[in-house]
Amino acid sequence: MPSDITTEHSRKILVTSALPYANGSIHIGHLVEYIQTDIWVRFQKMRGHRCHYVCADDTHGTPVMLRAEQEGIPLEALIERVHGEHFRDFSDFSIAFDNYHSTHSDENRVLSQGIYRRLDQAGLITKRTIEQLYDPEKEMFLSDRFIKGGCPKCKAEDQYGDSCEVCGATYAPTELINPYSALSGATPISKASEHHFFKLGECEAFLKEWLNPEGDNPPLQLEAANKMNEWFEAGLRDWDISRDAPYFGFEIPDAPGKFLYVWLDAPVGYMASFKNLCEKEGLDFDSYWQPDSDAELYHFIGKDILYFHALFWPATLKYAGYRTPTKICVHGFLTVDGQKMSKSRGTFIMARTYLEHLNPEYLRYYFAAKLSDRIEDIDLNLEDFTARVNSNLVGKYINIASRSAGFISKRFDGQLASTLEQDGAKLVADIQAQAAQIAARFEARQFSEAMREIMALADQANEYVSDKAPWAMAKQEDQKQQLHEVCTAIINAFRLLSIYLKPVLPKLAGEVEAFLNIAPLQWQDIDTLLIGHTINPYRHLVKRIEQKQIDAMVEASAATLQQTKPSPARHGEAQQKKGSAAKKAATAKDDDSMIQFDDFAKVDLRIAKIVKAEHVEGADKLLQLTLDIGEAQTRNVFAGIKSAYSPEQLEGKLTVMVANLAPRKMRFGLSEGMVLAAGPGGKSLWILEPHEGAQPGMKVK
Ligand code: MSP
Ligand code: ZN
Repeated sequence: MPSDITTEHSRKILVTSALPYANGSIHIGHLVEYIQTDIWVRFQKMRGHRCHYVCADDTHGTPVMLRAEQEGIPLEALIERVHGEHFRDFSDFSIAFDNYHSTHSDENRVLSQGIYRRLDQAGLITKRTIEQLYDPEKEMFLSDRFIKGGCPKCKAEDQYGDSCEVCGATYAPTELINPYSALSGATPISKASEHHFFKLGECEAFLKEWLNPEGDNPPLQLEAANKMNEWFEAGLRDWDISRDAPYFGFEIPDAPGKFLYVWLDAPVGYMASFKNLCEKEGLDFDSYWQPDSDAELYHFIGKDILYFHALFWPATLKYAGYRTPTKICVHGFLTVDGQKMSKSRGTFIMARTYLEHLNPEYLRYYFAAKLSDRIEDIDLNLEDFTARVNSNLVGKYINIASRSAGFISKRFDGQLASTLEQDGAKLVADIQAQAAQIAARFEARQFSEAMREIMALADQANEYVSDKAPWAMAKQEDQKQQLHEVCTAIINAFRLLSIYLKPVLPKLAGEVEAFLNIAPLQWQDIDTLLIGHTINPYRHLVKRIEQKQIDAMVEASAATLQQTKPSPARHGEAQQKKGSAAKKAATAKDDDSMIQFDDFAKVDLRIAKIVKAEHVEGADKLLQLTLDIGEAQTRNVFAGIKSAYSPEQLEGKLTVMVANLAPRKMRFGLSEGMVLAAGPGGKSLWILEPHEGAQPGMKVK
């Protein structure tokens, strides 16, 4: 940081947040990052720097491909829809990207393939054949996350191929007991294939130099730098950057059937989004990305993706002939009420669900009040959230305006005095004197410290109001001038605090500017005062949070997530259903046993043709059915009807299935629906069959 932040020159700054996966919705955990970055960017822009903030959807990889398949829609349609949803969620939280692009773009293809070529020319790509687990039914290689089976340590069933969620053990997928493909249930086989590797080990000397631990401005926080040293000590292994078809991604140049692994093209998406912005706005892309660039490059990320950003990414950039990042700003994870966000507790809150109940600026303020430059996790304590927003934002800050504005409007026609009395002049000078300190806090991402300092100034302003008691002065005609100057000082104090808070509360700042009848506030406006100026009548600016809003949000979150389909991806937070339906579902239990037509209509019943029925090895109650319901792909369903039917009795028959039942992972594979049957069980079980003429896929209603 320049030593005198108030006199620094205009900087060229490019800022990114991590690119959210295109197979899930934005939740409040994500928002920690986007809000943190947005505050920092807004601060830089208010300071007059040339700052650009870019992001994009991270579209490639197997989870997105499978999701489109699951929804029965083309990949392009899925990523376009999600792009729209993500962009709206971010906009509604006032996260102001200069560009929100996609990794599935021409810019990204050209840049990613170009980078691959340059790495190859630099001698950093090597090829070798590896053995990998393969799903013979789906005809694709399986990454660790798509292989499940029994934990080799604690024997817990249905664990992922890389680690056990029960005992925490990590292992290779080949060690699983009775492994099966999470996609088809098939037993994986081992198969050889040639892969392309990036020789990360050869970049170690460069990476150590880039870390620059003794320098003034190292690119990583201390905790992250320590992590890097652990990785160095463990030894840097070659990085597998290729994937075999079928894969959603970019082809590797001159290697048919081989695709770039999503984590290679994802960070290039930062460049691609910026490139797209440059084309729209006539900016000079190269001057930001060439090795001797005078621009600063900041990446904001969560701690879970440090490895990719601090090892692979700088090395990739360096050896492809580009500049390297100035700083990687790492944050911790969000917990809610001290625990991991939980679907069943209703604390896995989607951005959209939050927006349906609460003002986004509350969350921006709360996160700012909690965020530091450290990697520690941050907790959203819902009680503390309400208390802090109500007492600080409304009680301390907004209150300053509401306690004085009425007098200016009613007694002085909205016009501010042209001088300040002594104590008032001291108050505003005290607030102004903190400008450099607060700016340094924002610059260093010590937002919680900044909020604490700003609220201390708000306390000082409120003390001034109480001491001067303008409401008492208003009763004495001979104190009119005094009243005018006191209220003018209060309004000025409010204006100065609004400048400090503007990066955090941009929407509120806009309303404050309208109320004060002034141009958009910039940081340098700290040096001036509003004197003799006419302001508009005051309307209440922010409401307090009421407990019932929080309760409703938690209830809706619990309801929303009950309806979602599980997605096989690690970060694949399932898609959110629209709010009103979710709310109805939440209250349905409380009504009597009658349902409304709408409730019935939610069940997607379809005529299904049983194209295949088979015994399931190791299951004494189940038959595995392959059902045709007129979709591009058949459905796989495990039905507990073995006691009453043999496979031969079923094949070729029509029946009725629930087509929108959330898929269930069973020991034998994924069950993608349910067939309807009547009877008490055992031999007395009869599956439904439609009258002749019904066709597979017809809706039952
Ligand atoms: N697609 C990758 C990033 C590629 S960047 C070239 C990814 N996507 S993500 O959707 O899973 O996460 C996006 C960002 O949100 C990451 O920086 C991640 O750390 C952050 N968070 C996701 N869940 C979070 C919390 N619960 N808490 C705080 N941040 C979290 O990773
Ligand atoms: Zn285990």
